[in-house]
Amino acid sequence: MKRVAVLFLAFLFLTCAVLAYAGQEEKKMADPAAELAKSVKNGKVLFGDESLGTNGMTCNSCHAEGGTKDGKMGEMVIPAFDNLAAKYPKYFKMAEKVMTLSQVNNACIVMAMKGKPLSWDDQKLADLTAYVASVKKAKPEKKAEEAK
Ligand code: HEC
Repeated sequence: MKRVAVLFLAFLFLTCAVLAYAGQEEKKMADPAAELAKSVKNGKVLFGDESLGTNGMTCNSCHAEGGTKDGKMGEMVIPAFDNLAAKYPKYFKMAEKVMTLSQVNNACIVMAMKGKPLSWDDQKLADLTAYVASVKKAKPEKKAEEAK
């Protein structure tokens, strides 16, 4: 009888070990760099998506060419994004307070595009921020002086 119990326990143990191993195999598939690249790509699509707001505008309406170039709002020049990942959180003059990059993105959705703010755990907000943070300012065209 003892022997049967020992065999049964051994069987149970082996089954658990096999199942745990199989579970592990499934978990380790995500490649962090590829996941981030996907998020940046999705964010770039959202940057041109007017459904974030209600007034027909997209982020691109004011932040020219995906934020890589200076944009305009009336007379005001909106500077191209330039390595924002390293600059936030920062004191944001227009809001008169310290803000994170995601909060600024949401502020533009609410104020500039008359949309609803994205929830902090909405993947769209992470994607938008991943994109904005990835933008490098477009290289300025060669100035006349340099071309000489
Ligand atoms: C109606 C015009 C308008 C639209 C549309 C708009 N923004 Fe903005 N955005 C601004 C203005 C104005 C500023 C402030 C620029 C400054 O302070 O120099 C700004 C600032 C920002 C900044 C901070 C830039 C910095 O240098 O610190 C980010 C990031 C940003 N916007 C993201 C977005 C995103 C993402 C969207 C789309 C969801 C968007 N904006 C849509 C007008 C707009």
